[in-house]
Amino acid sequence: MGKVIAVANQKGGVGKTTTAVNLAASLAASEHPTLLIDTDPQANGTSSLGVEPRTVASSIYDVLTGTVAVEDAALHTEMPFLDVIPSHINLVGAEIEMIDLFERERVLKKALARVRRRYHFVVIDCPPSLGLLTLNALTAADSVLIPVQTEYFALEGLGQLLNTIKIVRQHLNPNLEIEGVLLTMFDGRLRLSNQVAAEVRRYFGDRVFEAVVQRNVRVSEAPSFGKPVLLYDAVSSGARNYMAVAAETIRNNQRFFQEPPEGADGTPLDDAPHLQVPPPAPRVSTPSAATPTASPRAPAPPTPAPPAASRERDAAPRPPSPDAPDGDGTPDPSRVVLASRATPPGGRPHGDTPSA
Ligand SMILES: Nc1ncnc2c1ncn2[C@@H]1O[C@H](COP(=O)(O)OP(=O)(O)OP(=O)(O)O)[C@@H](O)[C@H]1O
Ligand SMILES: [Mg+2]
Repeated sequence: MGKVIAVANQKGGVGKTTTAVNLAASLAASEHPTLLIDTDPQANGTSSLGVEPRTVASSIYDVLTGTVAVEDAALHTEMPFLDVIPSHINLVGAEIEMIDLFERERVLKKALARVRRRYHFVVIDCPPSLGLLTLNALTAADSVLIPVQTEYFALEGLGQLLNTIKIVRQHLNPNLEIEGVLLTMFDGRLRLSNQVAAEVRRYFGDRVFEAVVQRNVRVSEAPSFGKPVLLYDAVSSGARNYMAVAAETIRNNQRFFQEPPEGADGTPLDDAPHLQVPPPAPRVSTPSAATPTASPRAPAPPTPAPPAASRERDAAPRPPSPDAPDGDGTPDPSRVVLASRATPPGGRPHGDTPSA
């Protein structure tokens, strides 16, 4: 059963979308079937993957308003193991349209139940608010990843977010964990960046990702080419940083994709007629029933074996680590599965088998 990670921080411009897109791409590059869900009406995550939000046939808006099944809204991307459910400008009105819905905070959670077994990871990009869309994401998620920009006022507003997480745990999702706080746009040359990083580590301790995302111009250029940084410049520090974040995420969540898939014991799956269950081993050759064959060009899976010291994030405290983002354990970006298939404008609909 895939792990659902919401990338949330109500503060604007801290790197939520950049993190959601590049973490999802890096997980997919490590051959973990991954779904990115863009729940921000700005749709930056959608366009960052080369999908034009104005032309998509269906989006997360249609899923939340109940007109399209979640599996029908998912599109294949340029990367063999990465799917995306796009956003749409209509989403601006969704919070109001959903107001009378029964259990309106649980709509996304219920929708996701139909597809989360197809993926090892589902990454949700949240809008910069704590409204109903973010509440839906936090209710659907197993954990929340909090990007924090290493700048002045970095911790401002985090109390509000932590309070919201507490309330969600109390009323909607008792199992919601903090996946980690991720330092973004770090510039090691600046004393301010170092001070903020130290402050965040002092405050959040072992909840802070060991990996740090440095400020890197390639990261900010990649979206305008409709690509994650990994496909835009695989050897950039941004690509390496996000591969390190993905490696840490994979290491900390082995149990989510090493369990035998539900149904292996004969338990019926909720969408069994359409579903090819991924095998229980960490290497899976197909992200969904819609991509029945693995890419013939896929090299041996680069997923790093968990080091002896690996552990569940919440199971044991992590010792503080140096801020070196490219330290040992970072997978070599040159080994990632680079896409070889072109994506038509507007993305490739699920069910449209790629021709490789
Ligand atoms: N590591 C980085 N290096 C350089 N630029 C970055 C980096 N991370 C993010 N940016 C840039 O910072 C800006 C804000 O990033 P992003 O859109 O990911 O933030 P956000 O939290 O999703 O914003 P919003 O709250 O509006 O949704 C973007 O222009 C992005 O390209
Ligand atoms: Mg964003």
